[in-house]
Amino acid sequence: MKIGILGASGYTGEELLRLLLERQDIDVIYITSRRYEGKTLTEINPRFINTRFESLKFESFSEEKILKCDLIFSCLPHGESKKILEKFLGKVFIIDLSQDYRKDERALYGLTNIYDVYTKHFLKRTFKKDLIKKYKIIANPGCYPTSIIIPLYPLIKGNFIDKNTLIICDSKSGASGAGKKLKEDLLFCELNENFYCYKPTNHRHEEEIKYILNTKKLKFTPHILPIERGILSTIYFKSSYSLENIKSLLREFYKNDKNVKILNRYPQLKFVNFTNEIHIYLDYDKENDLFILLSAIDNLGKGASGQAIENLDILIRYSLI
Ligand SMILES: NC(=O)c1ccc[n+]([C@@H]2O[C@H](COP(=O)([O-])OP(=O)(O)OC[C@H]3O[C@@H](n4cnc5c(N)ncnc54)[C@H](OP(=O)(O)O)[C@@H]3O)[C@@H](O)[C@H]2O)c1
Repeated sequence: MKIGILGASGYTGEELLRLLLERQDIDVIYITSRRYEGKTLTEINPRFINTRFESLKFESFSEEKILKCDLIFSCLPHGESKKILEKFLGKVFIIDLSQDYRKDERALYGLTNIYDVYTKHFLKRTFKKDLIKKYKIIANPGCYPTSIIIPLYPLIKGNFIDKNTLIICDSKSGASGAGKKLKEDLLFCELNENFYCYKPTNHRHEEEIKYILNTKKLKFTPHILPIERGILSTIYFKSSYSLENIKSLLREFYKNDKNVKILNRYPQLKFVNFTNEIHIYLDYDKENDLFILLSAIDNLGKGASGQAIENLDILIRYSLI
């Protein structure tokens, strides 16, 4: 299968290349970057010397090159992705890592643990299958939303959360979540030994989480950690069910998903980084009558490129591509 990566010089693009190196069934034939156009991949990233990607060169956008691919991963910034992809809908398979198609009815929201757990439903709902055949686009979920929607989805769908109360999601991310661009707040001397909150109101990911979970009663606050990768989310909610009831629901819902692990200890980033796993822990604070869900993922793995490859694999598995 011939693959192209738009925006291959950024963090998610680099991670895709690193992960695809192992995949002998995949041939990467086209990578783009404006900054590095004309340079070889190995000039920018020596990790790829002596690998089968050694001869790849960063190129500019070319309609002809895109159409030669069976599938395109788009790792462009939000806003830019849609501008470029729109005219290719239905012509080439696209997995878009930006937020541009996450609320677009034509795209499948690619949270693999949700639609793969319910793949039978997904395939039975033929309109979705038709949709993927017609528009050929999967919107890969946001990294913070992945860490929050996976643990909350079964609880909300099963009506296990008190509808009159607010769900509070407090998340911390490594700095790669902001992309590989020059930004004063992300300079080493600003971030090192530091820790801060950003955009505590109206963050675009809050909108995505509420839209997918179909709830208005949710607050999301993001923070940046002085580390490279990983997201830890702490989610507070009220429920009239018992701790054991809710834990059993989570275990039952994800029992066939090897990447969703319900732990008996607090999740840590070092155990999920460089994987597609999500580690979840649930606790109950009796004094405050409050449940606390903890989840950990790798923002570049499960939260971006790893999940994008899971989406590709689902297209292959169900012969949609
Ligand atoms: N980082 C994460 O953890 C993460 C997680 C989930 C989703 N995402 C989403 O995935 C996408 C990529 O994220 P990233 O972290 O890889 O970003 P990034 O490191 O900033 O990379 C962006 C890529 O797009 C290219 N680019 C930038 N501006 C462009 C423009 N105006 N037109 C065309 N190309 C442009 C850049 O290369 P040139 O400047 O050389 O062209 C680079 O290759 C974003 O939409 C982001 O929101 C990121």
